[in-house]
Amino acid sequence: MSESVLITGASQVVTLRGGGPRRGNALSKIGVVEDGAVLVRDGKIVAVGPRAQVERRAEAKSAEKMDVGGRVVLPGFVDSHTHLIHAASRAEEYELKIQGASYEEIARKGGGILNSVKKLRAATREELKRRAAASLGEFAAHGTTTLEAKSGYGLDVASELKILTLQKQLKEEQPLEIVSTFLGAHVVPAEFRGKPDGADKYLELLMEQVLPEVVVGDLAEYCDVFCDRGAFTVGQSTKLLTKAKEHGLALRLHAEQLSRTGATQLAVELEAASCDHLEQVNDADIRALARSKTVATLLPGCDFHLGLNKYAPARKLIEAGAIVALATDYNPGTSPTMSMPIVLSLACNQLRMTPAEAIAAATINGAVALGRDNKIGSLEEGKQADLAVYEVEDYREIPYYFGMNLCWMTMKGGEIVWMKD
Ligand code: NIG
Ligand code: FE
Repeated sequence: MSESVLITGASQVVTLRGGGPRRGNALSKIGVVEDGAVLVRDGKIVAVGPRAQVERRAEAKSAEKMDVGGRVVLPGFVDSHTHLIHAASRAEEYELKIQGASYEEIARKGGGILNSVKKLRAATREELKRRAAASLGEFAAHGTTTLEAKSGYGLDVASELKILTLQKQLKEEQPLEIVSTFLGAHVVPAEFRGKPDGADKYLELLMEQVLPEVVVGDLAEYCDVFCDRGAFTVGQSTKLLTKAKEHGLALRLHAEQLSRTGATQLAVELEAASCDHLEQVNDADIRALARSKTVATLLPGCDFHLGLNKYAPARKLIEAGAIVALATDYNPGTSPTMSMPIVLSLACNQLRMTPAEAIAAATINGAVALGRDNKIGSLEEGKQADLAVYEVEDYREIPYYFGMNLCWMTMKGGEIVWMKD
């Protein structure tokens, strides 16, 4: 007989009932149940709602009880944009930036992404795995239960495949769900630079030698391109993404981060699952997103870490009706954090999103961005029991207490994957 677990004693259960995608006013309707309970069996949610109602079920009476002591229960965070696998921090560049060098200046001098590429190529699988496993522990400790992970610090056939096979291995060996994205087109690697057709030659290599291996090995679900000044043009991005789509991959784009290139319009045209960053979008881009199913993923950790004052126009995007999601963009160059709670704080303070909107953007709309909103992102009957419990009485206190980890317990598919000691 299977064991049921009754999670009870929650001051609030934030259900996000009604699923996704959430646009406009619906983003703030997060379904807060005071004195709520969740009944779990075989990794799935059997019932969720007011405690008295859930407790009336026969199954609840015989279930193992888990009293969360007046804390707040949320769906696990769905972090839909991370660069999980890299070899080292870039703390030395952080210091240069504080002293006045810009992200793009550092990149032009061979730092930035190429700095991380050098280190990743030199690192062993074991070293990379150890670092990624520690990061995954941190994600879990902050309440994340599903995350997307991109390649993009390899930039040659063997190193890109090394990252993606490692992601596949980690997916099987640890409890968090990892969704893989191929980002071979992160920037043009050093060995292809300095020739007028270097970028095109590199794209050819990606299309002819790497993409087929990615598909045969079932190594990625999505293909992403960094379409920006200093990376790839809209024309180059179109070529690669069209090819990836033919191979059956779904698409995402790094769009309008450093400059406005038209990448958002491209994402909408190609029906990409998401386009991410969006600091430089214009009104036409916002209208295009609002009419589309492409998720607008905002990454305020980047602007915070780079010390930039120009955050994405979250209010305009929400009011226009775009599907807004939030993610960490965990990476060594622009956003070295694994904490969705700090992203919520930044979203509230800098993007002027309300705590409710930020939570919906970090859960159900993140799930939409990863094509998984039928399984995760809200606490509803039949969905996976992916949830996190926070050491607060009111959900608004999660972003309110900034820079603190108040996550008390994280559950993935009904199993406790992290607990505060
Ligand atoms: O999402 N913008 C491109 N890629 C990353 C940064 C990568 C890096 O600097 O290492 C981002 O911000
Ligand atoms: Fe990124």
